[in-house]
Amino acid sequence: MAKFFVVVPLRFEDLALEELKQKIQVHGLVIDSVLLQSGGIEIETAESTGFFLNYVLKIPTRILLRMESFKVKDFTKFEKKLSQITWNNWCDYGQVVWKVESHGSRLFHKKNISKICERVFEKYRVGQPLKKQALSHVQNIFIRLVDDICQISVDTSGEALYKRGYKKFISKAPIRENIAAGLLWYLSESLNGSLFDPMCGSGTFLLEACQMHRPNFYRSYSFEFFRGVKKQRVQEMFQAEKEKGLKLFGADIDSVQIQNTRNNFLNIEYDGVELFSQDAFSIQGRNVDIVVVNPPYGERIKPIIAFTKLIQTLLKELNPHSLGIIVPKKYYLPNEKVGAYSLDKTLSFKNGGLAVKFLVFKITD
Ligand SMILES: C[S@@+](CC[C@H](N)C(=O)[O-])C[C@H]1O[C@@H](n2cnc3c(N)ncnc32)[C@H](O)[C@@H]1O
Repeated sequence: MAKFFVVVPLRFEDLALEELKQKIQVHGLVIDSVLLQSGGIEIETAESTGFFLNYVLKIPTRILLRMESFKVKDFTKFEKKLSQITWNNWCDYGQVVWKVESHGSRLFHKKNISKICERVFEKYRVGQPLKKQALSHVQNIFIRLVDDICQISVDTSGEALYKRGYKKFISKAPIRENIAAGLLWYLSESLNGSLFDPMCGSGTFLLEACQMHRPNFYRSYSFEFFRGVKKQRVQEMFQAEKEKGLKLFGADIDSVQIQNTRNNFLNIEYDGVELFSQDAFSIQGRNVDIVVVNPPYGERIKPIIAFTKLIQTLLKELNPHSLGIIVPKKYYLPNEKVGAYSLDKTLSFKNGGLAVKFLVFKITD
């Protein structure tokens, strides 16, 4: 059994746990223990299962494998403990980057801690030359000291998991893929029927909606470089779910964004998407099941648009059973009832450093 820490954006921990439980069930995974924490989920499971989660979980940012944990108050012990690690199990290729964090500990000088790590690793490598392939691979090692307890973890993901690999065309203010996936979970337990993003930009919500239950084999992951790992064996753990046949619609006032979304969809095999250029305020009489929208707001895109009018227009003209909209945290809806709809729930979070909230409206009458 190995211990993993699944790193999750703050405020998305509960949703990530729901997603984990669902994917454990679908893929028939065996997980020994699950512990929800602020900023992530700690799990105990077989190594291959922890690695596999990189392919199927959409909300986490990365997955760390816990290597060592020990109490330490001086550099001599720190260096000794580091020297005992069989580094080549994880760092056979390329370059190692040390990510150091220290809180309330005697060893607090991050540069000095990193220097020791580099020294120990160089010494280790004298007798253990690098593998020739993939010299450009970067392996992150996380060193975290809290109250003199040092936790060493190896990154199994590599690039952050929200970098999906298939989204090459990006709009001005895109939402992070894992945040978009989390908001879709929050909005609707099962993405069925039709989903419309009337301000789709480069199509993040649309792409996330159709990839929610598909594995991400479009990029590489650090664990694929670990010694003894057979990538194909790990990929074989994937159990396909019955496709839900979700119909996607995306619009944007800017035709360049529509072209971006179209290009992004070319990289994945999904033909259930319809894209068009339109002003969201002049949308008329369509029926869709779910609407999700990330309008321009805050300092990023000016001017701040009329959120109340947008909510009213989309609910009236699209008749969805659920609508989710991202608004600045300081925005307050004058009335929690909008026609036949009412504000069902709200999730506050940070989007690109800005305090925002996701309002979910559901039909009540
Ligand atoms: C914050 S971005 C959305 C980003 C998108 N969620 C993504 O991840 O790429 C807002 C988008 O709304 C579009 N937009 C602004 N005003 C609009 C309007 N009146 N009707 C439709 N789209 C509009 C912009 O062109 C921009 O692409």
